[in-house]
Amino acid sequence: MDAALIDRIRSDMAYEFGRVGPPDGFPAFDDIPVARHTSDEFAQLENAHLWPRTWVIAGRAEDVAAPGDYFVFADLGVPLLVVRGTDGRIRCFYNTCQHRGAPVVREARGSSRRLRCQYHSWTYEIDGGTLVSLPDERDFVGLDRSVRCLPQVSCETFAGFVFVNRDPAAQPLADWIGPIAEIFEPFDCEQLREIYRRSVVVPCNWKVTAEAFLEVYHFRHIHSRNGVSVLDNRGAAMGLYPNGHSRMITPYSKQNCQRVGMDSWDDWKLLDQGPFATAPRVPAIVDCTSTAISLFPNIIIPLGRIGFPVLLFWPMDKRSTRLDWIYYAPTAGGRHDWGDGELPQHWQEQRAGFDQIMDEDMMNMTPMQESMESPALRGIPLNYQERRIWHLHEQLDRVIGPERIPSAMRVPQLLHDFIER
Ligand code: FES
Repeated sequence: MDAALIDRIRSDMAYEFGRVGPPDGFPAFDDIPVARHTSDEFAQLENAHLWPRTWVIAGRAEDVAAPGDYFVFADLGVPLLVVRGTDGRIRCFYNTCQHRGAPVVREARGSSRRLRCQYHSWTYEIDGGTLVSLPDERDFVGLDRSVRCLPQVSCETFAGFVFVNRDPAAQPLADWIGPIAEIFEPFDCEQLREIYRRSVVVPCNWKVTAEAFLEVYHFRHIHSRNGVSVLDNRGAAMGLYPNGHSRMITPYSKQNCQRVGMDSWDDWKLLDQGPFATAPRVPAIVDCTSTAISLFPNIIIPLGRIGFPVLLFWPMDKRSTRLDWIYYAPTAGGRHDWGDGELPQHWQEQRAGFDQIMDEDMMNMTPMQESMESPALRGIPLNYQERRIWHLHEQLDRVIGPERIPSAMRVPQLLHDFIER
């Protein structure tokens, strides 16, 4: 997040506050077809063409700190195994033994220089998944070990997060993330400590759940306290990036500016963060706004100088989503030394505050699926402030392949001239 981007966000916010309608030339959106959130057909298209071909976060590099460390990962609906090799590289294999299909490892995490299936002891090495030994090999007629290695999927790291993509020929992770990566740079994401995690099931389609975090149009209606909203949605400066990613920087409301000692919505300065350790290079704008990033398809990160939650949306079926949020903090300053003990008071308060926002969002979402499935909803009209949702849907169609989607369920590609490249 360099000075040029910060200047642009400032002028974008000033523009957003002052405009009387969407910018000239901004397209009118068609209604989003409701069937994209409710039909078996669309869920099957996603299962066949999105989830097997997209980058998702499987964990953190420190989860596999030493060679041989591994963890299993099943959130893409297939059993995978992430392991750090003897060469230090992190790889991902299917956790499926090539003998008779048992899981190669059964513990959620562990450490081993060899991966030995407990059923008949077929054993694989960790740098390429090669089958290195099996008992009574003489009894397999014509067994070719070279074609019995563990199948590998794409696995790379960004900002300390381990990403996997079931497509072995996936676009390189850095290319896929593209220019939005710059925003993460000052957060020292390679050195984070997990503060706490939550996992809840929300009875909604995964897109209904994720869309709630792609706009702040709703913010003052469901998150106000005593009639006061922390944010002013009218000034939100959004950026749409290639591959469906986006950012949304939302200024503080007048009342919140007064509360934290800012003279105006762009009086951006480092605020006193009390007992919290902070990442030293994070710019002041982050303290004085809501700075949220979305990585397509299922990652939302509201960044902060004291740390940030990572929200992950995992479809369980077309009507339910497992929503995980994992709060991380920078390790700078050495003030995260409570080990596995109880969270310090200031973090307990931060956790309670963030969980309350999530509760308010989930309370709002919970009845939505049933309501959306009513024949009364004929389409979903989006406004300019909700353009990040449209951006997600456009990318979804590009990944699935528009030709595979029935025309009544497709969305037209309208935002290509509004992408930051
Ligand atoms: Fe793994 Fe037989 S199923 S060794």
